[in-house]
Amino acid sequence: MPQLITTKPQLWALKLVIHGACLLPAIWLFYLAAIDDLGADPVKELIHFYGIGAVHCLFATLLVSPLSRWRKTPLLMRCRRMLGLYVAFYATFHILCFLVFEWQLQWIDVIDEVIRRPYITVGFIAWLVLMALTTTSLKLIQRKMGARWVQLHSLVYPAFALVLLHFYWSQKSPWNDALLYALAGTLLLYSKRKQLLAWVRLVK
Ligand code: HEM
Repeated sequence: MPQLITTKPQLWALKLVIHGACLLPAIWLFYLAAIDDLGADPVKELIHFYGIGAVHCLFATLLVSPLSRWRKTPLLMRCRRMLGLYVAFYATFHILCFLVFEWQLQWIDVIDEVIRRPYITVGFIAWLVLMALTTTSLKLIQRKMGARWVQLHSLVYPAFALVLLHFYWSQKSPWNDALLYALAGTLLLYSKRKQLLAWVRLVK
């Protein structure tokens, strides 16, 4: 099986493609919002767009290591951190749209919503975990934390499961697109069962 990425210029080209794929849709949406062309419910449109964007980036992040192992392409692993940062970017914008446009920063109402609606509680916990991973993703912190960094970052799997649950729960009907994502996510988590078991042992 030929390697996918073997040289530094190929890696830079791939990184450029990833930046483009992650940033261009966000810029396009900003443009649509600016010309008032986001449909009848622009706030919902924004929340959905950033939510789905975060889920896509999370899938891409988790697929990097199996792909790199399968195609024997270690250089691919250098894209994982930037994809992880895009997860944080999209998830944070998703929440900002909810806070600013849906709730106009009415903090008491927002806290009430987080407590009262289980799907929001689950999304909030997932976001807190993703933020912990993002803020500790710097190489320097990774070196300082050593083995604890690996333990902390294995929390990405439970966070991923919570995100999929939040996605499914946020839908109005039981048969929806989120089920396909949940199925793909379950397959991905199954392929990562060793890391998941390590995480279960960690919290015991
Ligand atoms: C405090 C944290 C969060 C809040 C307050 C929140 C809020 C919401 C709301 C209000 C909806 C729309 C429900 C509707 O259709 O009426 C939603 C859907 C969604 N959220 Fe979140 N969310 C949070 C965290 C997350 C995170 C961390 C992710 C992903 C990494 C995420 C991904 C999604 C997805 C994929 C949808 C479904 C979008 C669609 O139906 O097209 N959310 N969330």
